Amino acid sequence: MCGIVGYIGDKLAIDELIKGLKKLEYRGYDSAGVAIVEKDDLKTIKTKGRLTDLEERIDTQFTSTEGIGHTRWATHGKPSEDNSHPHSDCFGNIAVVHNGIIENFQHLKAELQNKGHKFTSQTDTEVIAHLLEEYYQDDLLECVFKVIERLEGSYALAIMHKNEPGKIICARKDSPLIVGQGEGENVVASDIPAILDYTREALILDDGEVALVEKDNITLYNSDKKEIEKEPLQINWDAEEAEKGGYDHFMLKEIHEQPKAVRETIRGRIKDGQVNFEELKYLNYDKISQLNSVKIVACGTAYHAGLVGKTMIESLANIPVEVDIASEFRYRDPLIKNDDLVIVISQSGETADTLAALRESQKRGAKVLAITNVVGSSVSREADEVIYTWAGPEIAVASTKAYVTQLVVFSLLSIYFAQAKATIEEERQKKLVQALSNLSQYIEAIFKEEQQIEETARSISKQENVFFIGRALDWAVAEEGALKLKEISYIHAEAYAAGELKHGTLALIVDDVPVISLVTQPHVYDKMLSNLQEVKARGGNCIAVAFENDREIENEVNHVLRIPEIDPLFSPIISVVPLQLLSYYAAVARGTDVDKPRNLAKSVTVE
Ligand code: F6R
Repeated sequence: MCGIVGYIGDKLAIDELIKGLKKLEYRGYDSAGVAIVEKDDLKTIKTKGRLTDLEERIDTQFTSTEGIGHTRWATHGKPSEDNSHPHSDCFGNIAVVHNGIIENFQHLKAELQNKGHKFTSQTDTEVIAHLLEEYYQDDLLECVFKVIERLEGSYALAIMHKNEPGKIICARKDSPLIVGQGEGENVVASDIPAILDYTREALILDDGEVALVEKDNITLYNSDKKEIEKEPLQINWDAEEAEKGGYDHFMLKEIHEQPKAVRETIRGRIKDGQVNFEELKYLNYDKISQLNSVKIVACGTAYHAGLVGKTMIESLANIPVEVDIASEFRYRDPLIKNDDLVIVISQSGETADTLAALRESQKRGAKVLAITNVVGSSVSREADEVIYTWAGPEIAVASTKAYVTQLVVFSLLSIYFAQAKATIEEERQKKLVQALSNLSQYIEAIFKEEQQIEETARSISKQENVFFIGRALDWAVAEEGALKLKEISYIHAEAYAAGELKHGTLALIVDDVPVISLVTQPHVYDKMLSNLQEVKARGGNCIAVAFENDREIENEVNHVLRIPEIDPLFSPIISVVPLQLLSYYAAVARGTDVDKPRNLAKSVTVE
């Protein structure tokens, strides 16, 4: 995700930049850096690690009052000093900080290398510094306009040139950027917390806009280079509220970040209706077509993503898939043959059991593909192949956006495998790709029902036992729904394959016990209705998650939580969203510590 800041005024820039970055550390924390224009020279200090590591590096008393800074959440290139921002051109004249992803950076890099530019990092951002060098003709603003025309992807940028002191140029497309209007000082930031020490007035840049930020002036331009006026937004949040984007908890903020996380995870991976993972080296079509089976290994929520991934891969690519809990897999003498494919899933990339399963698989000759959210994590370093979920840092202990983006990766991967195996018809592929491009808006549509979900949550928050049921893919989502509810609300929750109820669990269904059923799989729809009858007959309180056009379900249950119509193979990506909200509001109603539930840690690095 990354956080960027800029300061221009009368105070010591380094101190102000570090102060601003501290407010944005939740956006990324694997490396940090600052650049200042000091006595006609550009000074850059950067390091891998936290801001405290950066502070230790600053051993000179600088006097500059203007600079830019960055706190990184790695995307291209592992966390290292070379890959940290700010990035510079060949001569060290220009400093750039960037949040976003430049999709055509490989192409631009090759072009610039042919012209003699020497690169020192593996980042996508460095191409921006070199492009600026290429186009610079004594007018940084004009140069920025030329450069952004060449960029594909997303960016929030702050840029300085040592020959043009007194200026920070900013540009934005698909990544957040604001300029805070102070008195005799102006600040630039990715997010509101970093400007609140200076001002309550924020100019929010829109896509395509560019800002020239000076000590006493902010000039805004649209993409046609025309000057524009904008009303500043008045910020009423306190600092803590601002860090959570105005939400009460990180978990709620992260649930609401899912439309963006989904877009970022799909970005660049679909071209002309075809799924393509440019990052994969070993898993080419040839290798995939020879795959006879796949194993998926993970823990907790990531394991639940694996359960969904299994069905997606099996039904589109016709490859048998086994899913294992990492802590079981590593000790059960798994049957692995040379060149088998094992997929490990881990948000943090540091889960001890998942890492051990990865190592065990490699020891037995398998190739390991990791799906992770953290660049440079142990899992990403040790796996043979890595696919990143671009969810950005997840702070709340309960995983939400990481899970949803893991499902997005599986939906893409299953189409990719199907392309390689030629097991998907053109028409079906078209429909599925279309569904993927609609995902964000489907999730936004669910947010419109949030109030109703909150009311339902309040009603179940008084109960001590809740059951989740579903069949086929819905069962996998039921598992995740139950885990979310128990971990943050401390309500006892269990998920069952709906057909299993009558084999024992039905004994627990008595008056008013909430039974949350997922009903999105047409081939088992009638069977689900029969199971709901069984529950109703015992007095259970039936709540269904169902498609918006499903009218029949209303006769069978007490409440319906609606989701937009989507191909049932991809319904888990959206049907989990009401369940996340349900858990969140139930936990709030019970007054638990939602972001840091008792006894749990975000990253489980011990067995
Ligand atoms: C639950 C949750 C955990 C994690 C599990 C694995 O909300 O977050 O169940 O999914 O501890 O963590 P990662 O994905 O980091 O390996």
